[in-house]
Amino acid sequence: MSAATSTSRLALRGDLLDFTGTPALDDVNSPAVRFRPDHWMLIQDGRIVDVRPGGQPPGDDWQREDHRGRLLLPGFIDTHVHCPQLDVIASYGSSLLDWLDTYTFPAEQRFADPAVAAAGSALFLDALLAHGTTAAVVFPTVHAASAEALFAAADERGMRIVTGKVLMDRHAPEGLRDDVAGAERDCEALIARWHGRGRAAFAVTVRFAITSTPAQLAMAGELLGRHAGLYMQTHVAENPDEVRWVGQLFPEARSYLDVYRRFDLLNERSVLAHGIWLDDEDRALLASTGAHIAHCPTSNLFLGSGLFDWRAAVASGHRVSIGTDVGGGTSLSMPRTLAEAYKVQALQGQRLSAWAALHAATRGAAEALGLGHEIGTLEPGAVADVVAWDWAHGPVATHRDAVARGAIAGLSEQALHARVFAWLTLADERNVAAAWVAGRTRYRRTSPNP
Ligand code: GUN
Ligand code: ZN
Repeated sequence: MSAATSTSRLALRGDLLDFTGTPALDDVNSPAVRFRPDHWMLIQDGRIVDVRPGGQPPGDDWQREDHRGRLLLPGFIDTHVHCPQLDVIASYGSSLLDWLDTYTFPAEQRFADPAVAAAGSALFLDALLAHGTTAAVVFPTVHAASAEALFAAADERGMRIVTGKVLMDRHAPEGLRDDVAGAERDCEALIARWHGRGRAAFAVTVRFAITSTPAQLAMAGELLGRHAGLYMQTHVAENPDEVRWVGQLFPEARSYLDVYRRFDLLNERSVLAHGIWLDDEDRALLASTGAHIAHCPTSNLFLGSGLFDWRAAVASGHRVSIGTDVGGGTSLSMPRTLAEAYKVQALQGQRLSAWAALHAATRGAAEALGLGHEIGTLEPGAVADVVAWDWAHGPVATHRDAVARGAIAGLSEQALHARVFAWLTLADERNVAAAWVAGRTRYRRTSPNP
């Protein structure tokens, strides 16, 4: 095959939106916003190579797709989500520790079976894509087979997935506990097989301080020290009862977060979910180590965990990304999740602009993961993980969008932020028209948008 015929060239036309910097939490006129209505995005061999105005189409050797009247965004990055928990999403009536015992642990036991793990991983990743999310930091289960299945399914789809076998050797039922030596062997084998292969990266995955013995936490820290470029993911300070229990288990630690510091688990590749019940010293520790918080608003509201203080996070200088935390969270949709993030801040008297919210789920997340060159941006050179979104779905959102565009007589035209904020607040997976991963179509909506 000649070089010319093996080159893939795809051009997408639509309203391009991404960020060139970090918007302030409540700045609706942020200079970090880059909105390019009716532009072509040129994708060659999986990467964005050029962006140009709609009036300057590429030549006939480009396959062209016209998404005029749609938003083209970088694929969303979900930095905290549980693959096996689709089984328990929307389970009634409990707070974190009860919810784990009643619903979550029994569901996760099923993933011991490699066939269940393979089917569950495929369902999960296809669902992420259909919700407009193209990259994620994911918890599978304690079973090595569940991590293997997830890596394999992500590889088939070309997706940027960060994951690793969950470490948990205590305070969990039979069938969901490992031991230090076996867990270390499993992690080493998965690292050798997957870390750095294609777009896969391995995360040392400590469920939380409650379910790992000090010996296992020490082993986790050693793994991080032994292999360059590994990630670390865990939960921290989600729920007051959980925080109290951690205090009893680790009386020598200053705080819940400090447990992880003592075992060398905090660095610039550490992703800690929730971080609601932190103090300023904890936040300073996150900032100084480069670790960051995956804020999970739908989960925090659904499980009654508490309100994340985003303003304090910004003041301390640590980064914040966004996780759906399904199944504690109630949707894989990032717009739905960001709409709840807005409400969580509103309950604390703080405004969260659409810009700050969208940035945290795209460029901000990518930078927090050290992947700013690859994902979360429409900059030439980035991998073409891109999603086409309808500006509206259904009559109410369509009307609201028309008002925001100034298309309704008697209502004056509003600023771009107003339109994007209304979109973000009303959109969900029904707005997703298509998703591309490394320039290949991985999702296309088949039903028409009413
Ligand atoms: N803490 C420990 N495990 C979990 C989990 O599966 N979900 C949530 N939300 N918190 C946790
Ligand atoms: Zn979680």
